[in-house]
Amino acid sequence: MPYKNCSAAVKILLQTGRTGSDTGIGHALAKYLDSLGFVVFAGVLNKDGPGAEELRRACSQRLSLLQLDITNPTQVKEAYLKVAEKVQNTGLWGVVNNAGILGFPADGELLPMSMYRQCMDVNFFGAVEVSKTFLPLLRKSRGRLVNMSSMAGGIPLPKYAAYGASKAALSLFSGVIRQELSKWGVKVALVHPSGFRTGIQGTSELWDKQEKDLLENLPAAVRSDYGDDYFPELRRYLLRMPAYCEADLSPVLNDVLHALLAPRPHSFYTPGKGAYLHHCVFYYFPVWFYDFFISKLLGTKPVPRALRTAEAKDKSL
Ligand SMILES: NC(=O)c1ccc[n+]([C@@H]2O[C@H](COP(=O)([O-])OP(=O)(O)OC[C@H]3O[C@@H](n4cnc5c(N)ncnc54)[C@H](OP(=O)(O)O)[C@@H]3O)[C@@H](O)[C@H]2O)c1
Repeated sequence: MPYKNCSAAVKILLQTGRTGSDTGIGHALAKYLDSLGFVVFAGVLNKDGPGAEELRRACSQRLSLLQLDITNPTQVKEAYLKVAEKVQNTGLWGVVNNAGILGFPADGELLPMSMYRQCMDVNFFGAVEVSKTFLPLLRKSRGRLVNMSSMAGGIPLPKYAAYGASKAALSLFSGVIRQELSKWGVKVALVHPSGFRTGIQGTSELWDKQEKDLLENLPAAVRSDYGDDYFPELRRYLLRMPAYCEADLSPVLNDVLHALLAPRPHSFYTPGKGAYLHHCVFYYFPVWFYDFFISKLLGTKPVPRALRTAEAKDKSL
C-alpha cells in the first residue's frame, strides 16, 4: 500500500458500472479501490445491468451501488441523500467524476447540434451538478474532487469538436474550482488521459444511430462537398481506434489513487502514452508546428470529394 492513510474509512463516490460490459475506467477503478479497502459508492446508469451485477459479484460488501444518471437532477439528489445518510459521522473523502461519452468522431462542421448538446450534458453539466451537490460533504472532510477530463479537452484534436469542447469546459471548471476550494482545504485534481481501450468508442448499433443522425441533419450541399464515400471512412477511424489505445488501465487507476490519497496530490495528471508530450507540444511550440505535428501523427485522410476534384483539376491544367 503506497499511501499511509488508505483505510476502510476512506469513502469515495464515483460513476462507473457499464450497462453492457466491464471494460470501463470507472468499473476498473471501483474494483481497484474496493480491493484496497475503500468504501465505494458506485453510481451506475442501470442498477440491474450486467456491469452493476459484476460489481456486486466481484466486490466486497463495503461497495454500494447507486442508481445515478448524472444528467438527471432527481437521481443526483437521491444519490446525495443516500450517501449523506451513510457517511453521517465519518464524512465523504472523495468524488471522482468519471462518467463521459465520446459521441461520433467527425469534422465539427458535420456533427449535429444534438451531439454537441449530449456531450455538454454528460461531460460538463453532469459533472458540474455532481460536484456542486457533493461539495458540502467534501468541504466537511477537507477531501478530494477528481475530474476525469481528456487529452482532447486540453489540446485541439481533429474529429473531437463536440467531445473536446465539453471536456475543455470541464477542465476549466476544474481549474477555477480548485483555486476557490483551496480555502476550504479541498484539493481538486484534473485527469487528461490519452487513449485507453474501453467501451467508450461505442458499438456498431450506436454508430449506426449516430451516423444516421449526422446524415439526416446535413444540408445537401455540405453532404455533396464531402461526398458519400467520406462517411464510411469516419466509421473505419472508429474501428482502428482500439489499436492505438492501451489495454492496461493501471496508469489512470494509479493517478486517480494518487489524486485521492497523496498528501500533496498534483492538480493535473496525464496518464497514458504521449499524453504529456502532446500537451507540451501544444503549450510550448508555435501553433503551426503543433498543427503540423498532429497532422503527421493522425494523418489528413479522408479527403472530402470537392477537394479531391479541385486537386485533380489543378493537376490536369
Ligand atoms: N478510454 C479513453 O481512452 C479515455 C481517454 C480520455 C478520457 N476518458 C474519459 O474517461 C472516462 C471514462 O471513460 P471510459 O473510457 O472508461 O469509457 P466508458 O467505459 O464508456 O465509461 C464511461 C462511463 O460513463 C457512464 N455514463 C455515460 N453517461 C452517463 C450518465 N449520463 N450518467 C452516469 N454515467 C454515465 C457509462 O455508463 P454505461 O456504460 O452504462 O453507458 C460508463 O460507465 C470518461 O469521462 C472519458 O471521457 C477516456
